[in-house]
Amino acid sequence: MNGLAGEHRVPVSLGDRSYEIRIQAGLLNQLGDICLGLGCSDRIAVITNPTVHALYGRVVQRVLRRAGFSCITVLLPDGERAKSLAWLGKILDELVTKRFERRDALLALGGGVVGDVAGFAAASYLRGVPFVQVPTTLVAQVDSSVGGKTGVNHPLGKNLIGAFYQPKAVVIDPQVLRTLPKREWVAGLAEVIKYGVIADPKFFEFLEDHVEDLRNRNEAVIPAMVGRSCEIKAEVVAGDEREAGRRRILNYGHTVGHALEAWGRYSTWVHGEAVGIGMVQEASIGQFLGRCDRETVERQTELIREVGLPVAMPQWAFADMWNGMQHDKKVVKGQINCVIPERIGRVDVLPLRRPEIQKWFSQVAGSLKRTVAGRRRRVLPSRPSKKK
Ligand code: NAD
Ligand code: GLY
Repeated sequence: MNGLAGEHRVPVSLGDRSYEIRIQAGLLNQLGDICLGLGCSDRIAVITNPTVHALYGRVVQRVLRRAGFSCITVLLPDGERAKSLAWLGKILDELVTKRFERRDALLALGGGVVGDVAGFAAASYLRGVPFVQVPTTLVAQVDSSVGGKTGVNHPLGKNLIGAFYQPKAVVIDPQVLRTLPKREWVAGLAEVIKYGVIADPKFFEFLEDHVEDLRNRNEAVIPAMVGRSCEIKAEVVAGDEREAGRRRILNYGHTVGHALEAWGRYSTWVHGEAVGIGMVQEASIGQFLGRCDRETVERQTELIREVGLPVAMPQWAFADMWNGMQHDKKVVKGQINCVIPERIGRVDVLPLRRPEIQKWFSQVAGSLKRTVAGRRRRVLPSRPSKKK
C-alpha cells in the first residue's frame, strides 16, 4: 500500500447508477466544482447536524455559494435518534415548503446517521432527487456513504424502513477526521479491519504493520486506508447491489454485533465497537466449527484489540445472544446465517445451528471472555481445525 499524494478516485460500477468516490485531503474546498460537474441544478439542501455544522457548515456553504449554488441547511439532532420517520418528515417538510424541484440536490454532510436519513429523503422526495454524500466520520467514509443503503429506524428495530438509493458522488476529505472524537475514530477502524478479513489479506497485513499509525491517526496512512476500504466495498456492491448474495459478506461481525447493540440498548457500544467484538466471536465460532484455524482468529483478535477496540462479550446469557441474532437481516425462515472466516481474506456465509452454537457459547465463549478480560495474549482454546 502506498500513501496517496493526489486524488484517489474509486468507481462504483452500477450501470446508469454508477458514480465515483473521490478521496483527497482538502477536497471539501472543491465541493462546489464537484457538484457543478454532476449537473446539479442551482439549489442544494445541506442536511447535517449541529456538531458537524459548527465545524464544517460554513466552509461547505461558502464553496457551494462560490460555485453559484443557493443553499438551505436542514439540521437534524445529533445521534441515532435522528434516524426516525419524524426527522425524515421534517426534511421533507422543508423541501416542500422551499419548493424544491426534481433537479435540486440533497447533500449529506455528516456521519452515517445523517447520510442514511438524508439518502432516504432523497430517495423519497419527488420519487428521487440527486444526492451527494460528504461523509465526515470514519464509519461513513469507509462504509455507510458507499453502496446506497439508506433508511431510518423503527421503534422496534434498526434500519427497518429504507431504500437502496445510490448517490451521484461520494466526496471524502480525510482531513475532517481530525476533529472526530477518539471513540468514533477507533469504532471506524473495526469496519476497516473487516475489509481485510473478508477480501484482502495484504490489506490486513498492512493494517497489522501500521497499528501505531492507526491508533495515532497518522494522516500519511489514512487516505490509503480509506481508499482501499472503499475499493473493496465498491467491488462487492457492484457485484450485488441489493444484497441477494455476496454483499452479505459486508456483514461480517454484524450478526453477533447487532445482537450486542440491541442487548446494550444502543448505548453500551457504538456500532463499530459491537462489530469488533462480533468479528472476534464469529471467528471463534468459525474455529469451533472447524472452518478456520486458530491463527485466523488470533490475528484478528490481536489487531482489533491493539487498535483500541473491545473484544470481549459481556456477561450475557446464551438466549440473549441467540434471540438477538434472530433479528439479523440474513435470517431466512428463522435460520440464522452468519459470515464466518475461512482464512484472512476469505469468508463464507454459513447457517448456524442452535445446539452447536450453544455448545460453543458454553465451552469457548466463556473462556474467551475470561481470558480476554485477563489480557493474556494467547486468548483462544486450541482445537484441531479442519480448514476448508
Ligand atoms: P454518527 O453519524 O452518529 O456520527 C458519530 C458522531 O460523530 C456524531 O456525534 C457526529 O455528530 C459526530 N461527527 C461526525 N463527523 C464528525 C467530525 N468530522 N468531527 C467531529 N464529530 C463528528 O455515527 P457513524 O458511526 O458515522 O454512523 C452510524 C450510523 O451509520 C448508524 O445509524 C448505522 O446504522 C449507519 N450505517 C449505515 C451503513 C450503510 O451502509 N448505510 C453502514 C454502516 C453504518
Ligand atoms: N454496510 C453493509 C452494506 O452496505 O451492505
